[in-house]
Amino acid sequence: MIKITIDGAVYEAEEGMTVLEVARANDVAIPTLCFHPALKPSGSCRLCAVEVAGRASGQPTVMLSCVLKAKDGLAVRASGEIVARAHSKAFRNLLTMAPQSERIIELARVHGIDPGPPPDGCVRCRLCIRVCKEIVGPGALRMEKRDGLSYVVPIEGKCIGCGTCANICPTQVIHIADKENVRTISIRDDIIGRHPLERCEGCGKLYATPKFLAHIEHRTTDHPHTKAAHHYCPTCAKLFSDRIQSVREHTRK
Ligand code: FES
Repeated sequence: MIKITIDGAVYEAEEGMTVLEVARANDVAIPTLCFHPALKPSGSCRLCAVEVAGRASGQPTVMLSCVLKAKDGLAVRASGEIVARAHSKAFRNLLTMAPQSERIIELARVHGIDPGPPPDGCVRCRLCIRVCKEIVGPGALRMEKRDGLSYVVPIEGKCIGCGTCANICPTQVIHIADKENVRTISIRDDIIGRHPLERCEGCGKLYATPKFLAHIEHRTTDHPHTKAAHHYCPTCAKLFSDRIQSVREHTRK
C-alpha cells in the first residue's frame, strides 16, 4: 500500500493505480471524457488535469490524472485556481470541436467550469466592418465587447441593405434572407438591417433596397447611363446601357 494526498486529504492506494482511480475510489470529483475503465487511458480530452505540487522545479505542474501513476508521498490538487484554469481551457478546446455537445456543456456545469460562450462562427477578421465603412460607406457594423469577448454587432439604423458584408464574410456567418419583398440581413440573432425590396423597372425582379439605391445615386459619379438606369437590376442596366450605346453608334453612321 502507498499513500497519496489529494487536496490535503491522505488516501491509501494500490501500487500501479492512477491518480484518477484513487480519486474515484474516494469520491473525489475529477471531470473526464475520454477515460473508460475498460480501456487503456489515452490522455486525449485533458479534462482530468490535476496540479502536482513539489516537483523538482518547485513550480506547480499540471498533469493528467488518468495517466499519472500514484506514487507514495505524491501530493496533488484536484481543485483550486490552477486546476480550474486547466479544466476551463480543456472544456473550451473540446467545445471548439464539438460546440453542439450537450454532454460536454453539462459536464462543465457540474464541475463549476464556465465553458465560455459557444463559438459563433465569426473569425473576427473585421472584413464586414471594413468593407461597410471603407468602400460602401454607411459604417453599419462595429466590434463590441460582451463578457470579455469581441463580437461584430450592428449599429442601429445605419444598414442600407446592400449585402456586401454578407458577400465578403469568409465564414458565411452573416445571412441575407430575401423573403417576399423584404430583405433581412443578420449576424447570429442580431438583425443588421431589414428593408423593403424594389422591383427592377425592366424585368420586375426584386433586386435592391431603396436606401441602397438612394445611396448609389449620391455616391456614383455623374454618368448618364448609370443615373438613367439606376432603377434597373444589373442585368437590365447592362442591356439598357448597351442599347443606348448601339443607338448612338447607329445615329453616328
Ligand atoms: Fe481524458 Fe484524462 S480523462 S485526458
